[in-house]
Amino acid sequence: MKILLLGQTGQVGFELKRVFSPLGNIVAPTRDQLDLLNKQAVADYLSEHKPSLILNAAAYTAVDKAESEHELASRLNGGLPQQLADYAKQANASLIHYSSDYVYPGQGDQPFDESAPTGPLSVYGKTKLEGDDAVTASGCQHWIFRTSWVYSARGHNFMRTMLRLGKDKTELKVVADQIGAPTPARLIAQVSLLAYLRDIPAGTYHLAPRGKTSWQGFAKAIFSLYRTMGHPLAIESEAVHAIPTADYPTPAKRPLNSRLALTKLEAALDIALPQWESQLEQTLEESIDRETA
Ligand SMILES: NC(=O)c1ccc[n+]([C@@H]2O[C@H](COP(=O)([O-])OP(=O)(O)OC[C@H]3O[C@@H](n4cnc5c(N)ncnc54)[C@H](OP(=O)(O)O)[C@@H]3O)[C@@H](O)[C@H]2O)c1
Repeated sequence: MKILLLGQTGQVGFELKRVFSPLGNIVAPTRDQLDLLNKQAVADYLSEHKPSLILNAAAYTAVDKAESEHELASRLNGGLPQQLADYAKQANASLIHYSSDYVYPGQGDQPFDESAPTGPLSVYGKTKLEGDDAVTASGCQHWIFRTSWVYSARGHNFMRTMLRLGKDKTELKVVADQIGAPTPARLIAQVSLLAYLRDIPAGTYHLAPRGKTSWQGFAKAIFSLYRTMGHPLAIESEAVHAIPTADYPTPAKRPLNSRLALTKLEAALDIALPQWESQLEQTLEESIDRETA
């Protein structure tokens, strides 16, 4: 089977490349080899390689920058998935695509399920929703996984930023009124493979670990586990102070409630997704292995 992987240098793309490799021949162009902003180049690439499965982990993920780069974000997050889905429909190929909790309006304190009304608060969220809608409307064989707060032992993410800051600073202020589930890229890739192999019904699914926390809670857990694993830090967990979103202004508005209901995916796969805390432990272990290698 020929698999096309887009976004292999990103957090999710890196893990997808590892876990899908037993399934077939993966072609995974880097940005230098294929600029995804270039619609004609993407069309030519699809015609040349004729993949029967596309894993689209590429996206415009700079949430704040997207506010001033709407067109670029729209091409990557909306136009590209549309193009991939149109190809998949006419070539009878399958498409696995990734989306975000930011498509929801973030009100209340209950988890959103996949049928909840959308209502993105940011350009990033709006463009991700454009992509989801286009893939769904295309009629191709597809799975869209909406996930939240992605992190891994590589790349730019909250866990790595906190570890860097926690080695120098003795106090930090972290937002405590945004609630969600931190999701390791590795879990996303593993569950995607399971969903593909079990051929669950096409559609949109939420994919995150069980449980919830705030960014402040996540930061405290990172520091406390890191120390438990025998590694020094300048900061103590108690010195991570809670602040409201209002005290940390950003160009893009973020949802306060990022809780995602997991029942649909758990039922389709007949599994219980793991708790976010156990996933953090595994990801921190991997991060420490990389630091000490
Ligand atoms: N990060 C989060 O917190 C989060 C939360 C919810 C959902 N998601 C979704 O999860 C998926 C994966 O996110 P991620 O965190 O793994 O993303 P990421 O680490 O930012 O990776 C994005 C990938 O897209 C590639 N890319 C962007 N523009 C490109 C272009 N013009 N041409 C070629 N490649 C381009 C990047 O290549 P370069 O390395 O060359 O830039 C990179 O490989 C995305 O759909 C995202 O919307 C992410």
